[in-house]
Amino acid sequence: MIDLHCHILPGVDDGSDSLDTSCRMAAIAADSGVRQIVATPHRGVDPARESGGAAAIRTAVSALQRELDRWNIPVRILPGSELLLAGDWPLPAPDSLLSLNGSRYLLVEFYFDESPRAMERRLRAVEEAGFVPVVAHPERYFCVQEQPSIADVWVDRGRVLQLNKGSLLGSLGEEACLCASLLLRRGLASVIASDAHHSRVRTPDMRNLLELLSDRFPAVEAELLLLENPRRILRDLPLS
Ligand SMILES: [Fe+2]
Repeated sequence: MIDLHCHILPGVDDGSDSLDTSCRMAAIAADSGVRQIVATPHRGVDPARESGGAAAIRTAVSALQRELDRWNIPVRILPGSELLLAGDWPLPAPDSLLSLNGSRYLLVEFYFDESPRAMERRLRAVEEAGFVPVVAHPERYFCVQEQPSIADVWVDRGRVLQLNKGSLLGSLGEEACLCASLLLRRGLASVIASDAHHSRVRTPDMRNLLELLSDRFPAVEAELLLLENPRRILRDLPLS
């Protein structure tokens, strides 16, 4: 499997707090069958103003990879980010943004109570900058929970929807669980990822998710959502 959304880099956001935790997260992921993880630290709408920016993330990815190799943890870490689309405009210059493994696909998120109009405006700005938005956890946004047809519009317009495994497992609230299940059943999601932050809660362990998918969503192609589509994204290919 490939985990496209994971806060595994140590000490850069509210994810892993140490190199030790990052190694534990990678080991947990590996034990559950994950072989590639995209490190997606949170970034704001003006990454150029953040300390170190994209270069710092790439350096941290290399440092973590060296540590995993030293401990023979069979996981490859790739660079990425999760861009919060909020606040001042215009969008930063495309070369200061860090897409998923340098592809056309940019992982983006919103405040949970963002309005559909503001979301649309910001998604268009991302597209005008040359990226395909990968909308992180659409099931967690209040407007999508209330009006799931927003997700249909996003998919029709070529945006990629990434569900959180925690939403499907019910650990991110009932509303998110119901909405994630609906989006999955309706075939609107292209990817499921961990959005892991720690080694004990919100972990990158995919075993429970695989069990849930085979028990409750037998019609869903788990391999497509957890391997094939993520692989296409990392190779900068169109999704099937
Ligand atoms: Fe995240």
